[in-house]
Amino acid sequence: MHSSDDILKSATSRCVKSLKGSIFVPGDKSISHRALMLSSQALGITTIRGLLEGDDVLATAGALRECGVPITRDTDGTWRVSGRGIGGLHAPSSILDMGNAGTAARLMMGLLTPYPYSILFTGDASLQKRPMQRVITPLEQMGARFASREGGRLPLTLTGTSTAIPITYELPIASAQVKSAILLAALNTAGTTTVIEREATRDHTERMLRFFGIEVQSDGTHITLNGQQAQTAEERSFTVPGDPSSAAFPLVAALLVPNAEVTVRNVCLNPLRTGLFEQLKAMGANLTISNRQEVGGEAIGDITARNSNLSGIDVPAHVAPSMIDEYPILAIAAANAKGRTCMRGLAELRVKESDRLAAIIDGLTACGVNAYAEGDDLIVEGTGQPPRGGGTVTTHFDHRIAMSFYICGLTAQQPVTVDDTRAISTSFPNFMALMQELGASA
Ligand code: S3P
Repeated sequence: MHSSDDILKSATSRCVKSLKGSIFVPGDKSISHRALMLSSQALGITTIRGLLEGDDVLATAGALRECGVPITRDTDGTWRVSGRGIGGLHAPSSILDMGNAGTAARLMMGLLTPYPYSILFTGDASLQKRPMQRVITPLEQMGARFASREGGRLPLTLTGTSTAIPITYELPIASAQVKSAILLAALNTAGTTTVIEREATRDHTERMLRFFGIEVQSDGTHITLNGQQAQTAEERSFTVPGDPSSAAFPLVAALLVPNAEVTVRNVCLNPLRTGLFEQLKAMGANLTISNRQEVGGEAIGDITARNSNLSGIDVPAHVAPSMIDEYPILAIAAANAKGRTCMRGLAELRVKESDRLAAIIDGLTACGVNAYAEGDDLIVEGTGQPPRGGGTVTTHFDHRIAMSFYICGLTAQQPVTVDDTRAISTSFPNFMALMQELGASA
């Protein structure tokens, strides 16, 4: 677990002549959390292949084990979850420490709302800064009580209830985590719960509920779930597709590095996750998709990126939910593009693993790029030339800031140093090894 007095692990990346290869990235983080949580609610054993074994997902596995769910891992990386059924979680025997994982913290609060337990949640320094009020508000309406630090921050105590109340809740922000927390609480709440979302957010929870035989209705804005549905015991097998948010790093690198050609295989192509690739195409990116298939209710395919000349574009606010974690790497693409890229409506970036709007601007500025905010919009002025580089970038224990600026150094005129790479293991433990396999220098 990271703490402020730990020793930072910096890394420096340098200009490369080419990147080539065909790789698999680890399993999707959002789907991995949900696969563990929903398997715990099934009746029977679920076998999970391709689970992301990053710190964030391991935090979810640890929390579920604390709640009495037997979870094992075979030496070949196959995970097995012995489902307890809806309503079958035990009171955790100790504090639930969710590390750096916002998704794990918020979704576990939802899952544990319909149980009469008092549970202490905490997390690392970054997670303790992040807002939990967005889940506290609807879960309180369902009957949970919370005692939190000021502003709804961790550590907090959740006291759930065995008589949770179904609600109809309109999301005030576009957040798949808030939607999912409510749906997970609704699973064990008698009656009909409805979540209304004005902007569509990733729908992995809905898809996976259906995979586990739970009926969920969705008409695009209203998602409705009847709680305490009858379950049948069944052995299930689930495969987690590759994470498009991780694939984004080697793919953008391939767009920017001369002569590069990189394929990332078996990437999740859920249309609510592929906004980055659409925007990159609008910038002129040579991106192609092949081998489209379906696994576990999700579309997957192989994405190939080849070196391209990119131009600046206007990225409208309404696409943000489909690429919310990809703005740091899009900003690196924009810094290499010709002309101004304006990314609109990024208020949510301020409350991610770090204040990403500030971290992107500070990092790009340190690399000689003209980048600034206008309200909630991020503007990056590209010259069509590789950035100067030469700076040291502060990552604030944010995995996506660390990986993005590592990629920045692969084209910059002078090496780029990221001050701390440890957070990368939260989502993409073999990032450095894969980049080196493609041709980046160690
Ligand atoms: C996630 C939803 C997004 C995303 C996060 C994962 C999820 O967060 O940024 O990395 O798994 O539901 P918000 O729900 O806060 O937008």
